[in-house]
Amino acid sequence: MNKIIFSLILALISINVAFAAVGNAEAGKTKAAMCAACHGANGIGTTDTYPNLAGQHADYIAKQLAAFKSGTRVAPLMAPMAAGLSEQDMADLGAYFASLDRTGGSTASTEAGTSATVQAPVAYEASAIAGKSLYELGDASRNIASCIGCHGKEGNSKVLIYPNLSKQHAPYIEKQLHAFKSKSRTNYAMNQFAGAMTDEDIADMGAYFSDTKAVANIKVKRVATVAAITEEVIAGKAKSAVCASCHGVDGNSLVPMYPKLAGQHAEYTTKQLKEFKSGVRKNPIMAGMVAALSEQDMAELGAYFASQKSTPGNGNGSELGKKLYFGGDASRGITACIACHGISGKGIAKAGFPAVANQSVEYLTAQLASFKAGERDNDRNGIMRNVSKRLKKKDIDALAQFMSSMK
Ligand code: HEC
Ligand code: HEC
Ligand code: HEC
Ligand code: HEC
Repeated sequence: MNKIIFSLILALISINVAFAAVGNAEAGKTKAAMCAACHGANGIGTTDTYPNLAGQHADYIAKQLAAFKSGTRVAPLMAPMAAGLSEQDMADLGAYFASLDRTGGSTASTEAGTSATVQAPVAYEASAIAGKSLYELGDASRNIASCIGCHGKEGNSKVLIYPNLSKQHAPYIEKQLHAFKSKSRTNYAMNQFAGAMTDEDIADMGAYFSDTKAVANIKVKRVATVAAITEEVIAGKAKSAVCASCHGVDGNSLVPMYPKLAGQHAEYTTKQLKEFKSGVRKNPIMAGMVAALSEQDMAELGAYFASQKSTPGNGNGSELGKKLYFGGDASRGITACIACHGISGKGIAKAGFPAVANQSVEYLTAQLASFKAGERDNDRNGIMRNVSKRLKKKDIDALAQFMSSMK
C-alpha cells in the first residue's frame, strides 16, 4: 500500500507539472457552452453514453482533454472537441466542471440501472454485491487491486488524479472498463486490472455503480488474503515468465531441487539475484538467468514473488528438527533458528532473514550443507556459516524435514 501511495505522489507531482495552468471556473463556464449538448448544462451527461463531468476532479478532466487532443485516448466524438483547446482552456474547463454539484439533481442512477442490465451478456444476471466485493477487496489471485484504494469509498476519490466514479452512468463505467481491457484506452494500472476482469466482473461493476446505495449496508467478505498489488508486482510478473520453467508460474516450483520463491521476502530475493549476478553467490544456472537483469528488474521480480502464496512443502516433520529449530543446542553452540527465522518460519523481511517454511526438503538440505562447507558464503557476517558448521548430517536432515513442514 505504501508503494501505491508513493507512486501516487510521484504521479501527482508530474501531473501538477503537466498542468501548470491554473484553471478559472468563470472562464471555463463560457467555454463549456459547446459541451452542454452532450454533457448537459449542469455537467450531467444527457444520455448514458455521455459521462457526467459535474464534480469530477479538475486535473483529471484537464488530463483527459489533453489525451483526447493528442490521441492517446481515442474517442471520435471528443477528438474534434478537444482539438482546438489550449492548455489554459483545459484547465478552465476542468475548474468549471469540478465546481458543479455531482448529483446535478439527475436521474442518472435509475436510468443507468436499467441500461446496465440490458448491456450485460444475456445469460448473465449481473450482481451488484459481487461488483461491490470486487470493488472493495479486489482479487489478489488474479492481480486485481481493490478499486477503493484509488477511487475511494463508493467511487468518491480523495486523490485528485483518480477520477470519481460515484454517480457516473453505469454503462459508461462498463464501456471504459471494456476499453481498458482491450487496451483501446490506455492507462498502465487500469489496463492490468480491467485486463484481468471477465465480462461478468465488468457487468457486476456496472450493476454496483448503477446504485451503490442499494447495497451500502451489505458487508463484503474477503475471499482470499489480499496482498497489495503495486505496479512493481505487475511488472515483475511479466518478467517472471523466464523463471517459470524451474520455479513454477507463481513461484511454487514443482521440482524440489529448484527453490520455491512464492511468499519469500522481496528484500531477500532481490539480494540473492544481485549476488548471483556479481558472483558473490555462486550458481552456474542462476548466473546465466540473472546476467541481463537490471536492479529495477530484480526489485520487481522480488516484489512479484513476495506477493504470491506459497504452497505446503514436502517435509514430514521431525522431533529432532523441531527441538533444534526452537531451542538450538547450547552445549554445541548452535543458535536456535527461531531467533531469526521466526516462530512459523516466515523470517523477518527487513532484517534479511528469509522465510524457510514451505520450502522443499531437498533445497533446504542442500543450502545448509552448502553453508556448512562454506561453499555458500553470501550470508552477512557469516551468520549461517557459524550456525551450520556444528550441525551434523542427521541434524541437517531433521531440520530440513521440520522447516519444510512448518505452517
Ligand atoms: C457530441 C457529444 C460531445 C460533446 C459536444 C462533448 N463531449 Fe466530451 N465526451 C463525449 C463522449 C461520447 C465521451 C466518452 C468518450 C469515451 O467513451 O471514452 C466524452 C468524454 C469526455 C471526458 C472524459 C470523461 C471521463 O470521465 O473520463 C471529458 C473530460 C469530456 N468529455 C469533456 C468535454 C468538454 C470539456 C467538452 C466541451 C468542450 C465536451 N466534452 C464536449 C461526447 C461529447
Ligand atoms: C492504482 C490506482 C487505481 C486502482 C487500484 C484502480 N484504478 Fe481505475 N483508474 C485509475 C486511474 C489513474 C484512472 C484514469 C486513467 C486515465 O487517466 O485515463 C482510472 C480510471 C478508471 C475508470 C474510467 C473513469 C472515467 O471517468 O472515464 C474506471 C471506470 C475505473 N478506473 C474503474 C476501476 C475499477 C473497477 C477498479 C478496480 C477493479 C479500479 N478502477 C482500480 C487508477 C486506479
Ligand atoms: C533452469 C532452471 C532455473 C531457471 C530458469 C531459474 N532458476 Fe532460479 N534457481 C535455480 C536453481 C537450481 C537454484 C538454486 C541455486 C543454489 O542451489 O544455490 C535457484 C535459486 C534461485 C534463487 C534463490 C532462492 C533462495 O531461496 O535463496 C532465486 C531468488 C532465484 N533462483 C530466482 C530466479 C529468477 C527470478 C529467475 C528468472 C529470472 C530464475 N530464478 C530462473 C534454477 C533456475
Ligand atoms: C542470527 C540469525 C540467523 C539464525 C540464528 C539462523 N539463520 Fe538461517 N539465515 C539467516 C540469514 C541472514 C540468511 C540469508 C543469508 C543470505 O542473505 O543469503 C539465512 C538463510 C538460511 C537458509 C537458506 C534459505 C534459502 O532460501 O536459501 C536456511 C535453509 C537457513 N537459514 C536455515 C537455518 C537453520 C536451520 C537455522 C538454525 C539451526 C538458522 N537458519 C539459524 C539468519 C539466521
